[in-house]
Amino acid sequence: MRPLIATLATWQRVLAETLAQAEAASRASGHLANPFRSAGNPLDPRTSDDTALFKGRASLFRQLEGILSDAGRRPPPLLVGGRRNGKTSILRFLPTRLSSRIAPAFVSLQKPADGLIGLLGRLADAITAELQRTPGLGVPPLLDRKQLQQDAFAAFGVWMDALERWLDQRVLLLAIDEYEALEEGMGRGCYDERILALLRSLIQDRRQIAVLLSGVHELDELAPIWASRLINTVPLRVGFLVEDDARALLREPAPAFPPATLAAVSDTLLARTHCQPYLLQVYAYSLVEHLNETGRRSATEADVAAVEELVLTRATSYFSDQWRTESGGPLGEQLLAALAQRGPMDAEALRALVSDEANFTRTLKRMTRRTIVIRDATSRRYTISIPLLATYIRRESAL
Ligand SMILES: Nc1ncnc2c1ncn2[C@@H]1O[C@H](COP(=O)(O)OP(=O)(O)OP(=O)(O)O)[C@@H](O)[C@H]1O
Ligand SMILES: [Mg+2]
Repeated sequence: MRPLIATLATWQRVLAETLAQAEAASRASGHLANPFRSAGNPLDPRTSDDTALFKGRASLFRQLEGILSDAGRRPPPLLVGGRRNGKTSILRFLPTRLSSRIAPAFVSLQKPADGLIGLLGRLADAITAELQRTPGLGVPPLLDRKQLQQDAFAAFGVWMDALERWLDQRVLLLAIDEYEALEEGMGRGCYDERILALLRSLIQDRRQIAVLLSGVHELDELAPIWASRLINTVPLRVGFLVEDDARALLREPAPAFPPATLAAVSDTLLARTHCQPYLLQVYAYSLVEHLNETGRRSATEADVAAVEELVLTRATSYFSDQWRTESGGPLGEQLLAALAQRGPMDAEALRALVSDEANFTRTLKRMTRRTIVIRDATSRRYTISIPLLATYIRRESAL
């Protein structure tokens, strides 16, 4: 074992030296290391570069801390925000932003669980793995898997009792990402309404356990049973970045990044993306790449125009999802196409385009909630919030 550890340490050193040499060489050659992300995966503090990339959200963490510290009456927070607005990244950063009294356990329901036993097993795995990772906590009690197979809810309840005793003064925060997948699972018959009863009892009856849900949907957009079972949820909105944080992302995405690189174009980037974090990253990534290809160190307005086509291609699935799915379907798609083609319109002008009155109001509300469209308070006219999205829709819907 020892020789192996020694060999590994040597390799680590060699690798670190090689990396440092490569970085120094690329700096000398004028090549910029590209710190931005174009793939749209969640940021994670366990990846060291991501810590510098993750900007803002301070007030949301403060709000969460406030809600969770009220032990007597702890309403469940519901993180709601549009696709790729940064919900999962926020959940990933919880351990670094909340007080050590709170132990967050992250579980994503993006991949469907195999029935109720599979789901409870997955929750247990996520909780146990997180608690075992947290330094100084010791070994948490384990869920009895045999019991789980025989009587899933009873076994989970017994385990929760033991876990609460073990947690003592600490609070376990069960952060469930893509929570609406539970409804889809119920629709497919994978689980039934007892899963909502379980969530409700975790929220109401367990002093040492808190539940946070995160997703794109508000409770009232799901089946009515959700709002009636999960009363008191506190919606916390995950919108686009605020302007200062968006500027900070472009100026200092990594400690060694030269702040002047995107300085001359940051106003344009903020305007074209409306500070949507994923699009800011894709745009900035594409610009740094373009600068490297053309052997320069700072971007101009001409560069912004030159890479826009590439940005539209790279983010196609995001744009198409906003336009066709998040908009609520064909009616939303039609309204967005009209706004993209004709520019800002008031509600009456938009209503005149459609025949389905009841659906019209619901669709416009849905798109406003998701910040796909925004209404100007003075002119009362609606417009597509992200100019890049408007460009995409204009092109796609052109005859
Ligand atoms: N706070 C932030 N600072 C900088 N960039 C961010 C931030 N949050 C998100 N991003 C960027 O947005 C991308 C999407 O983030 P994330 O996956 O967390 O969003 P999401 O809301 O969970 O998306 P989805 O709805 O698709 O699950 C990331 O890859 C990252 O580039
Ligand atoms: Mg996510």
